Amino acid sequence: MTGPHHPGLDIEAVRAMFPALHRREHGHPVAYLDGPGGTQVPQQVIAAMSGVLEHGVSNLGGWFGASHDAEEAMARGRAAMADLFGCDAGEISFGQNMTSITFAVSRALSRSWQPDDVIIVTSLDHDANFTPWVRAAQDRGVNVRIAEFDPATGVLDPEAVARLFDGQVRLVATCVASNAIGTQVDVATITRMAHEAGALVYLDAVHAGPHRLLDVRAIDCDLLVASSYKFFGPHTGILFGKLDLLAELDFYKVRPAPSDPPDKLETGTQSFESIAGVTAAVDYLAGLGEGETRRDRLDAGFGHIGVHEEALGNRFIEGVSGLGRVTIHGVPAMGGRVATFAISVDGITADVVASRLAAQGIYIWSGHYYALNAMERLGFLETGGLARIGYVHYNTVAEVDRTLEALAAL
Ligand SMILES: Cc1ncc(COP(=O)(O)O)c(C=O)c1O
Repeated sequence: MTGPHHPGLDIEAVRAMFPALHRREHGHPVAYLDGPGGTQVPQQVIAAMSGVLEHGVSNLGGWFGASHDAEEAMARGRAAMADLFGCDAGEISFGQNMTSITFAVSRALSRSWQPDDVIIVTSLDHDANFTPWVRAAQDRGVNVRIAEFDPATGVLDPEAVARLFDGQVRLVATCVASNAIGTQVDVATITRMAHEAGALVYLDAVHAGPHRLLDVRAIDCDLLVASSYKFFGPHTGILFGKLDLLAELDFYKVRPAPSDPPDKLETGTQSFESIAGVTAAVDYLAGLGEGETRRDRLDAGFGHIGVHEEALGNRFIEGVSGLGRVTIHGVPAMGGRVATFAISVDGITADVVASRLAAQGIYIWSGHYYALNAMERLGFLETGGLARIGYVHYNTVAEVDRTLEALAAL
């Protein structure tokens, strides 16, 4: 994929690996700018998933090969995700999706909360990192405080979180990057401050996943959750949790199920084919870079991804600045954000913008994308939300230019 003479991504080679990128609609090649809502998968993910089903797979704990295959798929999935997050395989659990995992964790964590304890959530977050905490807090009589981001700059200042540290703070829940406006959050600083205040930290890395290599040890967060369909894999959620914490938490589970982490969080039978797909997605990302270990290759691969996405993002920002009617909401430059842009177009609702672009084969989202608080704070919740254009590494400069032309022609 890369070499000393061709540093960076070979975008045509990357795109050739994604069958879905060849789709056409209304006579146009499709530009998938809906990555924040879910990314496409490379052929090796499809092959890994169908391979599991073709070869035959059974459930865990049997005496025969197909059961051993299921166990191996789980072990390989944990090892792959451990490399992606920078942790141990024993700290990785799988679940249906981020939302289900977060409801389960909120129920388990909140069992030790006392009335008048405090938890902190943020207005930048997707509702899946908001409502599970609010509901658990209501059940326990706990106070919820909302750390607000600055709607003018899109930034969530760690000080806005720290200002809320008063009383017995049990938890800070925040995203690593906003799925609405692309802000990157300084989660390492927030985690340090939260720990000083005696609180645990739960991070939603769903939106950051396709853009940045995570490092849970460097961040020092207690729990972190991601969703593989946002980083070129299938629809499966993944949780990192510090082992001591997972061991002490009481998760609802059926009696015969394992009582030790990480399996104890995995209610019912997992999707072994999806978990094989998660492994293949991590291997795909590692294949974009070079290095000794898979973690090294992931680090290098994400380096290339970052360079390419920054180029796409800069071109989009610059192009939009020449379109009088279009406004990007949130962080104005690529420093401090990923290439996910929530935009408004004067005089045209977000739904109309998205539907007009869809007619040209350009897939973008419109509305609030479940980031209700963010949309409210930006002042667009009642007026149909914003149009969201998201670039990931398989998008091209030509697709950015196509977007700009389509916006200019509205
Ligand atoms: C930032 C963020 N968090 C959480 C979720 C929910 O993830 P899942 O669909 O895996 O439940 C999404 C989905 O859009 C998201 O973008």
